[in-house]
Order: sequence, then structure tokens, then C-alpha cells
Amino acid sequence: MAAHMSAGGKKIVGVFYQAGEYADKNPDFVGCVEGALGIRDWLESNGHHYIVTDDKEGLNSELEKHIEDMHVLITTPFHPAYVTAERIKKAKNLELVLTAGIGSDHIDLLAAAATGLTVAEVTGSNTVSVAEDQLMRILILLRNFLPGYQQVVKGEWNVAGIAHRAYDLEGKTVGTVGAGRIGRLLLQRLKPFNCNMLYHDRIRINPELEKEIGANFEEDLDVMLPKCDVIVINTPLTEKTRGMFNKEKIAKMKKGVIIVNNARGAIMDTQAVADACSNGYIAGYGGDVWFPQPAPKDHPWRYMPNHAMTPHTSGTTIDAQLRYASGVKDMLDRYFKGEDFPAENYIVKEGELASQYK
Ligand SMILES: NC(=O)c1ccc[n+]([C@@H]2O[C@H](COP(=O)([O-])OP(=O)(O)OC[C@H]3O[C@@H](n4cnc5c(N)ncnc54)[C@H](O)[C@@H]3O)[C@@H](O)[C@H]2O)c1
Repeated sequence: MAAHMSAGGKKIVGVFYQAGEYADKNPDFVGCVEGALGIRDWLESNGHHYIVTDDKEGLNSELEKHIEDMHVLITTPFHPAYVTAERIKKAKNLELVLTAGIGSDHIDLLAAAATGLTVAEVTGSNTVSVAEDQLMRILILLRNFLPGYQQVVKGEWNVAGIAHRAYDLEGKTVGTVGAGRIGRLLLQRLKPFNCNMLYHDRIRINPELEKEIGANFEEDLDVMLPKCDVIVINTPLTEKTRGMFNKEKIAKMKKGVIIVNNARGAIMDTQAVADACSNGYIAGYGGDVWFPQPAPKDHPWRYMPNHAMTPHTSGTTIDAQLRYASGVKDMLDRYFKGEDFPAENYIVKEGELASQYK
């Protein structure tokens, strides 16, 4: 046991992105290695040992050094520590894996369930942040904004180069695949733009809320896809949604469709998206999620035409960081006291996966 760890103290490992030169630019920047979710003093003064790193890949990584004796692992989707079945097998003391954010697909959930690990995330912590970002990417792609910006930076001026493929959002049909927390917030934000709104989900929204939101339910995804000018992906990555948008599914969409995906990169067939962007079948593809992350330099989405891709940032605004840091602290506090977490936070509990992951 580490000298500064009390008898009941736990070894907690956090894996976050490194901030480097940006670390001290904002006192609220808690989501990085340096900020450590702002819980270091609290944990250490309570006798726990807290290790934070961004070094997550391979057998020689800092994370790997602590796997065997850590009790709690805090990960984040923005810099995902891939918690494989092999790592879970090695982690003899591990009891709890917390996701600082939403989306725990970087963890082998079946292996976690089989070992009796608890996996929980901070449900709702960055849903507004993502919905706002999706609305921004829809507009950026529809209005053909990025080529205009590039012209300005390069000292050029060519109105036609932008205008020949720039459209209004009003009157377009927008469909969300998945209308959970983020999907609904997006639909609510789209309402004043006067577009036709559709949604597909495994569960229909209750009639009152559906009416208030103003979106029509499409039970059959294949019926919804050809109707949409804009498609937004809002499901988690599960065994049902992995690779869901392959060549065949993309062919069911309208030619010239715009796709925004801030859900997870692996929901798409990477090469099918790159090909359909290159041949113009997809008119624009935007989002912040890739597989793997960080995206390698040769990832095809970096080089396809008409994209609005960024690193994984939408759910890690400063506001979101403060919310998920506070949610992680709350769950750690409950874990130390032996109390349950808010029910909606559980992804794996007592060997059972949350229903949409089954
Ligand atoms: N880019 C980011 O920063 C960021 C941040 C937060 C969340 N996310 C991603 O967005 C996802 C959604 O987040 P949320 O808070 O809206 O989750 P949520 O659980 O509230 O909603 C997910 C919805 O998807 C539906 N769904 C699940 N599987 C489906 C299937 N096979 N077919 C049809 N519908 C299905 C569910 O019924 C649910 O309504 C997360 O799981 C995560 O992967 C990304």
C-alpha cells in the first residue's frame, strides 16, 4: 500500500487528455490531466491515492502499470482508455469504472459484467453541449461555410464557389436516428428553424412530448432514411449499432444527404463514408467522433471532401467538464459510503448491462 494511503484508502486512476500549454489558461479547465477533474485535494485528504495520466496505449503505458492494483478507473470518451477483456482480467482489485462524460463503449461491457464490475457514466452531463454542436455542424455543412472560411484565410474571394451548393435549413427534412436525451434536445433546438422533423428510435417518445417537440416517429429506419436531407446520429455504440451505416444503408439515403454524427465513429463503416463523400453521394459529413481516438494521421475522414470534422470536443466544453467532474465526485462519494448511484448512471450493475446495450 502507498505510504500516504490510509487503511480504507482506494487507489484511483484517471485517464484524461493532456492540456500542456493550455492547462493554466482557465481555472475551470478540469477535464484534462492537469485539472484532474478538480478532485485531487478532496481524494488525497480522505486518504486515497489518485494517479492521473494520458498514457493509455500498450503494455508499457502508465495506465498498464496500475491496472493490477487499482480499485477505481476513471476514463473519458474524449481520450478513451480502451478497457479490454485482457485488461479487466489483469485488474484484480478493480471494482468500479466511471466514465467522465457519456458513452462507455470503450469498455468491454460484457467482460465487465462477467467480472462483476460496476460501470457508470455521468448521464445527462454534456447532452446540451452535444445538441448545440450538432445544430452548428448542420448549419456549417448546409451553408457550405468551411470553404468560404478557407477562401478568406487563403486570400481568395469566390462567391460562386460557395453559393452553388449553399442551402437554407428552413423547409428541409431532418431525421435523428436515436431520440434520447441528445436527440430530443436537438429536435427542440431545430423547431424554430421550421424544418420537417423525423425521428427513429427503439422506443417511441410519449405522445404529449412528441407533440410538443413536433417530430414524427418513424418505426422503420429504412423508410425514414430516403426522406431526409439531413441525418443526425444519436444512438450509443452497441453491438446493434456498430457498423450500422455501411454501404447498403448509405445507399438508402437521399443522394446529396448531409450526415452529422457526434455519437460514435464506429457506428459508421469508415470506408463507406469516405467513398460516399468522395463520389458526392454524401454532400457533407460532420462530427467529432472517430475510431480509434486519437484518430491516426492516415484516417480517411481527414482527407475526404466536404467534411466538418474536429477532434472529439463537443461534449467537453468547460460547462460540460464542470458537470461531469461534479458527477464523478458525487459517484465516488457514494461509492466510499456504500450508497447507490442515480439509477440512470449505471451501464453495468451486478452483472447486468443497461437495456440499450443488451
Ligand atoms: N461527442 C460527444 O462529445 C458525446 C457526448 C455525449 C454523448 N455522446 C454519444 O451520444 C450517445 C447518445 O447520448 P444520449 O445522452 O442521448 O443517450 P440516451 O441513452 O439518452 O439516448 C440514446 C437513444 O438511442 C436509442 N437507441 C439505442 N439503441 C438503438 C437502436 N439500436 N436503434 C434505435 N435507437 C436506439 C435509445 O432508445 C435512446 O433513446 C452516447 O451514447 C454517446 O455515444 C457523444
